[in-house]
Amino acid sequence: MTNPMSIVTTVEHPLVAHHLTRLRDRTTQPAEFRSLVRRLAALLAYEATKDLRVKEQSVQTPLTTTAGHRLDQRIGLVPILRAGLEMADPIIDLIPGAEVWHLGLYRDEETAQPVEYYSKLPPGYPVDVGLVLDPMLATGGSAVSALAALQRWGVPSLKLLSLIAAPEGVQELKVQFPEAQVYVCAVDECLNDQKFIVPGLGDAGDRSFNTVLE
Ligand code: PRP
Repeated sequence: MTNPMSIVTTVEHPLVAHHLTRLRDRTTQPAEFRSLVRRLAALLAYEATKDLRVKEQSVQTPLTTTAGHRLDQRIGLVPILRAGLEMADPIIDLIPGAEVWHLGLYRDEETAQPVEYYSKLPPGYPVDVGLVLDPMLATGGSAVSALAALQRWGVPSLKLLSLIAAPEGVQELKVQFPEAQVYVCAVDECLNDQKFIVPGLGDAGDRSFNTVLE
């Protein structure tokens, strides 16, 4: 069952296109790869935070008093270990008051099913907006597992920020989490037999942390 209310936003911008191309390049080394992930995460976050609630707050400038605004929601960043870690810092720079709640998931190589191995989500007092950070949305299993954890926590507004996605993962989210808003830099062609995104960028965790074993 698909739900027409699902919102998937592909952020189209020259900077996104430029940095994403470098990110895909097989010759890009880990240091540059990490900095590209950070830049793209900031660009995605800019788009994903457009509907944050603000409250009016006046401010005294050196000349006078004028109307202003401040953020009026608790925002939680949920980076998915490992690859999502690199996406958190640039978004904290944009939202210094954001809380960071880590989740550890890996995809079983044989079944492609997500396995949760770490959760720092607290038992209560949920944030108002949860931003799940993971560079890759492949089958969608990991994203569904992460969003389900936030839903159990009681987070009312769910958002997923991924650098690249496969159509299969996008479809899975539309079915499983029609209420979640999804922000990506690109939706690629397909998954291959090993459930890797094609053309993709390889394994974001391995490329970020220099653990590609040839
Ligand atoms: C990758 C990626 C996602 C997941 C996507 O993580 O960062 O978490 O796979 O695949 P899915 O949509 O099919 O669930 P991986 O399992 O490689 O772990 P890592 O970040 O530790 O490398």
